[in-house]
Amino acid sequence: MAFQKPPGTQDVLPGTVEVWQYVEKTARDICRRYRYREIRTPIFETTELFQRGVGETTDIVEKEMYTFTDRGNRSMTLRPEGTAGVVRSYVENKLYGEPDIAKLYYIGPMFRYERAQAGRYRQFHQFGVEAIGSEDPALDAEVIALGYQFYKEVGLSGITVEINSVGTPAIRAAFRTKLLEFLEPMRSELCKDCQSRMDRNPLRVLDCKTDQDKFDGAPSILDSLDEACTAHFARVRECLDAMNIPYRVNPRMVRGLDYYTHTAFEYKAQGIGSIDTIGGGGRYNGLVAEIGGDDRPGVGLGLGLERTMLLLESQNVKPEIEAGVDVYLIGFGERAERELPGLVQSLRRGGLSAERDYQGRKPKALFKAADRAGARYAAILGDDELERGEIGLKNLATGEQVQVALARLAESVKTIITEQKKGNENQ
Ligand code: HAM
Repeated sequence: MAFQKPPGTQDVLPGTVEVWQYVEKTARDICRRYRYREIRTPIFETTELFQRGVGETTDIVEKEMYTFTDRGNRSMTLRPEGTAGVVRSYVENKLYGEPDIAKLYYIGPMFRYERAQAGRYRQFHQFGVEAIGSEDPALDAEVIALGYQFYKEVGLSGITVEINSVGTPAIRAAFRTKLLEFLEPMRSELCKDCQSRMDRNPLRVLDCKTDQDKFDGAPSILDSLDEACTAHFARVRECLDAMNIPYRVNPRMVRGLDYYTHTAFEYKAQGIGSIDTIGGGGRYNGLVAEIGGDDRPGVGLGLGLERTMLLLESQNVKPEIEAGVDVYLIGFGERAERELPGLVQSLRRGGLSAERDYQGRKPKALFKAADRAGARYAAILGDDELERGEIGLKNLATGEQVQVALARLAESVKTIITEQKKGNENQ
């Protein structure tokens, strides 16, 4: 029986991988401009880190983690998200000792045992940022703006931003009681998910898609905030206004992870089946202390890259991808063929992308292969040319052919390509 990839995973094949590279390059370039530096942390961490970091009662920790016992009898877990590992590394490497706040980013695979469907996988990838060391609401706005900018720059449209404030743990505890008073009388009318959430995490009930019409008149967390939380949230909104980032306040939005305080936000878009959340994040002021460090506030986001890819496809955005070969080398005759290894090497050493045949193709098939490779030029070497120390260089778009010195092949191709570019720019 042939092997198949595990459910909920994907092979990224040549042809698609270039779009991934483009998306990743866009993310890295945005981080350069916003001054976030890359951090690479392990793909697996001790299970306890996620239990403490993400929260015992979250869906992620309760039923979605890839947990295993290693040969040393330790419980390890493939990371279901990036924040806990980054905060662990921040504490372990004492990054709080630095004079500036830590502004970090990562791109990499995460693992959750979820029911796989379009846009939901068991191995998926996130582009995430974490800014640790400041409570300034302008930093929350910076992170929200960074994510929005990312979606814009990869070429997507129709992205909306929803924001909320989830206050502090104490405020949430008080709100929870108030909310349960409202929900309890309607318990039996709610969907199964809501009923189970009422016992575990009642705030998430308000996020339910099917029961929305029953929540008219539900208490709003925004009315439960104290003065400091209200002021912080107001300032985040002012900053977003100043940055021209459009957003909608959604007082019913609750994130699926326990560590959020104050600001919570999500990016939404239509086009991936029933899934409309494509990224999210928020502030996590107690998390660094929870993970054993000095008490430092933080804020960050995680954007799903598979969802970004699916949206690019559904919006028919086709990034420009340079995949063509500069030169396809063709040798006619035994003597010419013997020169090919040296010639192809000199082209590549000279910074050009070059290809040749390894399948013993006949002349006509060689030109077809050059076309298929998207070659701009075919460099054609026969016995006559070899005798004269020359090689034919054929522009495959125009059919024009010139003879250039064999010893200066790479330089000649580069000069011609540069001149052609200049010509195109002047047109
Ligand atoms: P999250 O909302 O759990 O947040 O995940 C962020 C994004 O990852 C989602 O909006 C989605 O695009 C993508 N994602 C999550 N699960 C899957 C899945 N099974 N398949 C495909 N994509 C998925 C976090 O993970 C937080 N660590 C974000 C954060 C960083 N908050 C503060 N800093």
